[in-house]
Amino acid sequence: QSTETQTATAATATGRSAPERTPTKKTVLMCRPDHFTVVYQINPWMDPAKPTDTALAVAQWQTLHDTYVGLGFDVRLIDPVEGLPDMVYAANGGTVIDGIAYGAKFTHEQRAAEGPAYMEWFGANGFDVHEPVETNEGEGDFLLVGDVVLAGTGFRSDASSHEELARVIGREIITLTLVNPSFYHLDTAIAVLDSRPGQEHIAYLPSAFDGPSLEILRERYPDAILVSEEDAAVLGLNSFSDGRNVVIAARATGFEAQLVEAGYRPIGVDLSELLLGGGGVKCCTLELRR
Ligand code: ARG
Repeated sequence: QSTETQTATAATATGRSAPERTPTKKTVLMCRPDHFTVVYQINPWMDPAKPTDTALAVAQWQTLHDTYVGLGFDVRLIDPVEGLPDMVYAANGGTVIDGIAYGAKFTHEQRAAEGPAYMEWFGANGFDVHEPVETNEGEGDFLLVGDVVLAGTGFRSDASSHEELARVIGREIITLTLVNPSFYHLDTAIAVLDSRPGQEHIAYLPSAFDGPSLEILRERYPDAILVSEEDAAVLGLNSFSDGRNVVIAARATGFEAQLVEAGYRPIGVDLSELLLGGGGVKCCTLELRR
């Protein structure tokens, strides 16, 4: 083996070599869960009868925030609004690509007011805001991978919003249909590990998709990491990667090992309180792309 090959690869437990993973600096938007609680049920994870601890939610969220800062990310904050307990799930606030912010239009009335709140922030921060006509829940269902957007439907975002997004940002959109109500947003069923064109790499839960969608995923991403039901059930896929560091649910230990094997550096965080609302790491993170 030449020295060149040795520096370009990292040895893994099984002796196979994984490519060296390099990080990209990310800019993200987050919302402190000052008003987080569970008072309505719009996904199977939520149970208004179960008590929530807002102070603990804030503390856990702060750890995620500080982890991103420690990774050198530019972390921006939007003010939480009283009466919008799910606003902490910033990923649903919109889709921001090439400086264009395609706003969210929520499926459930309880979250409707979050759409305008996020659009106001995008506008005030120099993004070109496109108010949506079609129902969509932002990056919860839209994931940029290379030059294409993987777009989820089945529970929340309407397939008509996929066409709308394609028109707004001028990119190819690939529609994927979700079939398991526990994985109601695409970002609960797919993790984007590397989104750089030419280096696309994802992880996903096969059972979360219908047959035709699974075919597309298998064909497009033959080297994808397939995650177990156990790891997906703690929202392990709901993670955020900079291409090297992958912030994941600490309880997703199988996925953690798979990531190490593939040359990544997983960083586990505990967001147990926010899991009561049906969200994890990625849900609390909206990527801002200029
Ligand atoms: N309670 C929120 C809802 O059901 C959770 C959103 C999770 N966000 C996400 N990007 N998956 O809408």
